[in-house]
Amino acid sequence: MLPLLNLQTSWLKLHPLKLADANVLFSYRSLPVVYKYQQWAPRHLEEAMDFIRKYSVTDEVKPGNWKQLGIFLKDNQKLIGDCGFCLQGEQVEIGYTISPEYQGQGYGKEAVKALIDFLFRAYPGRKIIASTDPQNWASMRLLERLHFIQSGFFPRSIKIRGRWKDDVLFTMTKEDWVSNIQRNL
Ligand SMILES: CC(C)(COP(=O)(O)OP(=O)(O)OC[C@H]1O[C@@H](n2cnc3c(N)ncnc32)[C@H](O)[C@@H]1OP(=O)(O)O)[C@@H](O)C(=O)NCCC(=O)NCCS
Repeated sequence: MLPLLNLQTSWLKLHPLKLADANVLFSYRSLPVVYKYQQWAPRHLEEAMDFIRKYSVTDEVKPGNWKQLGIFLKDNQKLIGDCGFCLQGEQVEIGYTISPEYQGQGYGKEAVKALIDFLFRAYPGRKIIASTDPQNWASMRLLERLHFIQSGFFPRSIKIRGRWKDDVLFTMTKEDWVSNIQRNL
C-alpha cells in the first residue's frame, strides 16, 4: 500500500518535497510570472529550503498548517510544480503551481484532481475551497474546469507585495465532486 501522501495519476506523482528539490522549486517559484498572484515568492535558495522544511518533508498534517506536495513527472521524476492544502475547521483550502515550461498541458488539472480526490477520501465531511485573483485566467479556468462553484467575490481583500487585490472564492463539496466524477469531468 502507498504511504498516505504519495498520490499517483496517469502522468504524475505527488508527494512531499525533499531539500534536494529546493533548487528546482526556487527556479520556478522565483519567477515573476509565477508569483504574480501569489503571496509567497522565494528571494533566495535558503527561503525555498525553509519552505520545504516548514511545509513539506514529512507526511504529518497539522490543522492550520499548509502541507505542500511536489508534483513530479512519473516517467523521469522531474519536479514540475507543487500544490498544497490546509485544514481549516470544516473546510480545506488548496493551492497549486506549475512551472511555466509545463503549463498549458493539462498537468495543473490532473494534479489538482488527484489532490481533491485524496482530500475527500481523507476528510470526507469537509468542503474544499480555493481562492484566486479574478485576473488570474489560468487559475480561474482550472477551477471552473473542475466544476468548482464560485461562492464569493471579495474586492481588495488580499495584500500582495503592498497592493490590495481582489479575490474570488471557489467551493466544492464531496457531493459536487461525486456528481462531477459521474459526469466524467
Ligand atoms: C494556474 C496553473 C496552476 C494552471 O496550470 P496548468 O498546468 O497550466 O493548467 P492546465 O494545463 O491543466 O489547464 C487547465 C485549464 O485552464 C486553461 N488555461 C491554462 N492556462 C491558461 C491561461 N493562461 N489562460 C486561460 N486559460 C488557461 C486550460 O486551457 C485548461 O482549460 P481547458 O481544459 O478548457 O482547455 C498555472 O497557470 C500556474 O502555475 N500559474 C502560476 C501560479 C498561480 O497563479 N497559481 C494559482 C494561485 S491561486
